[in-house]
Amino acid sequence: MKHLIAPSLLAADFSKMESQIEIINKSEADWLHLDIMDGRFVPNISFGMPILKSLRPHIDKPFDVHLMIVEPDNYISDFKKAGADLLNVHYEACTHLHRTIDAIKKEGMQAGVTLNPHTPVFLLEDIITEVDLVLLMSVNPGFGGQKFIENTYKKIAELKALIERKHSRALIQVDGGVTVSNAQSLINSGADVLVAGSAIFNAPNPIQAVKEMKHFLPDPPASNLV
Ligand code: DX5
Ligand code: ZN
Repeated sequence: MKHLIAPSLLAADFSKMESQIEIINKSEADWLHLDIMDGRFVPNISFGMPILKSLRPHIDKPFDVHLMIVEPDNYISDFKKAGADLLNVHYEACTHLHRTIDAIKKEGMQAGVTLNPHTPVFLLEDIITEVDLVLLMSVNPGFGGQKFIENTYKKIAELKALIERKHSRALIQVDGGVTVSNAQSLINSGADVLVAGSAIFNAPNPIQAVKEMKHFLPDPPASNLV
């Protein structure tokens, strides 16, 4: 499968929404990643359902919704109504994860589970066949523009092995500190979906940044100079 790119709206310029929407639609982005923060699960507050609802008719890509909230079960049908195609809940926020995943699927959405950087992959052993996607956080959630945590490479390899061993269809998504420079090695390590906020929206040419993450630039020709 060709890997997917999901720009994170968190890094967009909210004072220029029309141009940001145009960037998302015109680029080769596969999904739009939407970060929902409640000020409780993470120490930050972002945006919620009304924003998703108003954007939905203008964006022709699936909505990949990353819930960084406590008690996500209370809002599953609201996010469906707001336009979510994939709903991602944190392992650390779900006491009854199996029930939550089931409820997401019953609403007709794809279901994802997210692991914080400190949460080991082996905890997914008994849920991996139920989920459509696993999101590995490669920064501590709550803020854009943070530095990529290198231990994520090890977790990608462990997750890939678990998915293969259990014959799961889950995609591997990586979120946090993803750039044009590390995109290729993340894909080579086994990631299927890359989320990137600042590396896309803060780039001089966001459409080009998506292109470079999607296709990778060939290595520059070796210099003849010795
Ligand atoms: C962080 C969010 C990320 C964030 C990524 O909590 O989950 O999706 O927008 O931002 P960058 O790509 O700037 O690290
Ligand atoms: Zn995210």
